[in-house]
Amino acid sequence: MSRIRSAALQSKVMSAGDAAALITPGSTVGMSGFTGSGYPKAVPTALAARMEAAHERGEAFRLKVWTGASTGPELDGALAKADGIEFRLPYNSDPIAREKINNGEMEYLDMHLSQVAPVAWQGFLGPLDAAVVEVSGVTADGELIPSSSVGNNKTWLDRAGKIILEVNRWQNPALEGMHDIYYGTALPPARVPIPLVRSDQRIGQPTFRVDPDRIAAIVETDAPDRNLPFAAPDASARAIAGHLIEFLQHEVKLGRIPATLLPLQSGVGNIANAVMAGLNDSPFEGLTAYTEVLQDGMLDMLETGKLTVASATAFSLSPEAAARLNDEMAAFRSKIILRPQEISNHPELIRRLGCIAMNGMIEADIYGNVNSTNVMGSRIQNGIGGSGDFARNAYISVFMSPSTAKGGKISAITPMASHVDHITQDVQVIVTEQGLADLRGLSPKQRAKVIIQNCGHPDYRDALADYHARALAGSYGLQTPHLLPEALSWHQRFIETGSMRA
Ligand code: COA
Repeated sequence: MSRIRSAALQSKVMSAGDAAALITPGSTVGMSGFTGSGYPKAVPTALAARMEAAHERGEAFRLKVWTGASTGPELDGALAKADGIEFRLPYNSDPIAREKINNGEMEYLDMHLSQVAPVAWQGFLGPLDAAVVEVSGVTADGELIPSSSVGNNKTWLDRAGKIILEVNRWQNPALEGMHDIYYGTALPPARVPIPLVRSDQRIGQPTFRVDPDRIAAIVETDAPDRNLPFAAPDASARAIAGHLIEFLQHEVKLGRIPATLLPLQSGVGNIANAVMAGLNDSPFEGLTAYTEVLQDGMLDMLETGKLTVASATAFSLSPEAAARLNDEMAAFRSKIILRPQEISNHPELIRRLGCIAMNGMIEADIYGNVNSTNVMGSRIQNGIGGSGDFARNAYISVFMSPSTAKGGKISAITPMASHVDHITQDVQVIVTEQGLADLRGLSPKQRAKVIIQNCGHPDYRDALADYHARALAGSYGLQTPHLLPEALSWHQRFIETGSMRA
């Protein structure tokens, strides 16, 4: 049976190639997609073919591409390979696109994910010429049933000059009813409070509204979301999870947070996923999540009942977990709510709910400034994603990483962070496999002692302590002591020798 229940919209069905031909070189296109979920698969692939053919003829064909966050190989990978993206926002984890960005061949605006939709409405990014959005179906009255991510789709559908839909049969029809699309956002001075006070609350409707006259094409597809598998938690990831759980238990014991904790936010990546696996084995019960992505660890927690509800904007599941979810979608529907990313990541809601934010990092310095994005201060890894939305507004903001990277050649604790995404005021707890630094209420010099002692790797700890001692003796000021000519020398040594080791 067709997933397009509206007879009027049936007439707009065409091939991916014909739909791609509606997008002209130089356009700005808003695409669906968030961490490998719910991104369009057929139209971007057809677009990439058109781009390659145009380039062979010596004609320019590049686009400005806006999405929810990262997507899959058929979108970012294919368009980047075809050299078809001149400008990209707000987040990327595709390796080909990453290479293009780091080679200076693609402009990349790395944004707080909560801010993308409001900024698009403010208008300074320019017009959105087209939207290409995957949905899982169309209702009889022409409303759109979202797919496995919501991201910025509501905004793209509202703002785009023309709309191309991909209706993906692979997505489970039982997704219908899982989404909560809130239509109450506005720009100041018309902005009003968002009426959400619990993670499990629904404040919107299950479908997207759309003006049928702006739908230029509908393409029917049957293609899986493609996410990467997570690395199995290693000893280091398990140790990080262990330190964090011990800290949370201590906070409960002191009566600072309830026994059911506060709504959990867990970031992207292997470490965040491993912490969820650790929580699943912990004594905590009746947990809730108000988060951006729902990854394997959280799905396991929903299955065991540890987690009673998860609010997110997208699934970020390994292929195995995605298949499991797809098999049992109807059973999960009452426990999962997918919302637009301006709501899942909204500072007002994160502050009100008091989320416990747990995000991965590239490095932290001895004062607790955190770099989530730029390796050696200049090479983008992924982007800030929602980490800033959550870190600044959380009840407790945690950053975690193994204490070394690249086989020990890089210390994740450095004298000075080579790039700062999260300032010390937004970083309350740092965890490595070595231990946990609770930085709340500490001055910079007090923070440095705890971070070096608890989080630094033994191979680098003495050198960090030595730097800090000499900075205390020779710094221009003693609030945040630094020796400026030396502060970034560890990074420079890595660039020159391939190791931060002296
Ligand atoms: N120097 C150089 N490379 C580093 C590094 C460092 N200090 N720390 C991590 N890396 C590299 C790893 O070597 C690895 O590279 P590889 O893929 O080539 O092996 C990669 O970064 C991922 O690191 P990993 O240790 O597997 O951790 P992760 O999967 O948990 O990811 C981040 C860590 C920081 C990259 C990831 O958390 C991220 O992108 N964060 C920013 C976005 C975010 O926080 N979103 C959450 C919002 S809800």
